[in-house]
Amino acid sequence: MAKRRTAILISGRGSNMAALVAAARQPDYPAEIALVVSNRPKAAGLTAAVEAGIPTAIIDHARFDKDREGFERALQSELEAQRIELVCLAGFMRLLTPWFVTQWQGRMINIHPALLPAFKGLDTHARALAAGVKIHGATVHFVVPEVDSGPIIAQAAVAVREDDTEETLATRVLAAEHRIYPLALRLLAQGRVRLDGDGRCHVDGAAAADEALFVPPAL
Ligand code: GRF
Repeated sequence: MAKRRTAILISGRGSNMAALVAAARQPDYPAEIALVVSNRPKAAGLTAAVEAGIPTAIIDHARFDKDREGFERALQSELEAQRIELVCLAGFMRLLTPWFVTQWQGRMINIHPALLPAFKGLDTHARALAAGVKIHGATVHFVVPEVDSGPIIAQAAVAVREDDTEETLATRVLAAEHRIYPLALRLLAQGRVRLDGDGRCHVDGAAAADEALFVPPAL
């Protein structure tokens, strides 16, 4: 089966992008990273993408001032020009309009650094620590017009430690993100992810993940 042509949209460091690029180098991976787009000309991830030999595009949102749709039309043209089939948001810090989201319904996914539906929005690690949760993590979900709210494809859990700071927790969650995002893209590209209209995402042929995470572990 032909590999699904995938674009990654970034705004910054691009470590999730790098994880997806690394996964897609495996011969049997069902997606190829055909394009990396940044809305920030100086995003560090752009340099990494160029070094990895991936075609890149810069669509600087500042050029469009407050014309959000103009920015998105430019983005859409670039994605169409490169015959993109799937889109991964990876630290892409622009809100998307319902028009753009509709163009990519069921074909655009995002990674969020929390176990949704808990801690939508920003500063997830600080808020998780303030809430005193013992298990935190990351979620890959479909993008819908409402931010951080689409059907969940995959989640990774991370145990919160007593002495965690925002930084130490972020580091462990990020490592989990780098594992879960390539897995979720694989499922989507293989056509194993179904949206049945019940607002939930169903994964075909997924082996039951029976390993339970107990926090604290048995002493
Ligand atoms: C990640 O924590 C991701 O979950 C969030 O933004 C951050 C992006 O990091 N959406 P990177 O650019 O992938 O390193």
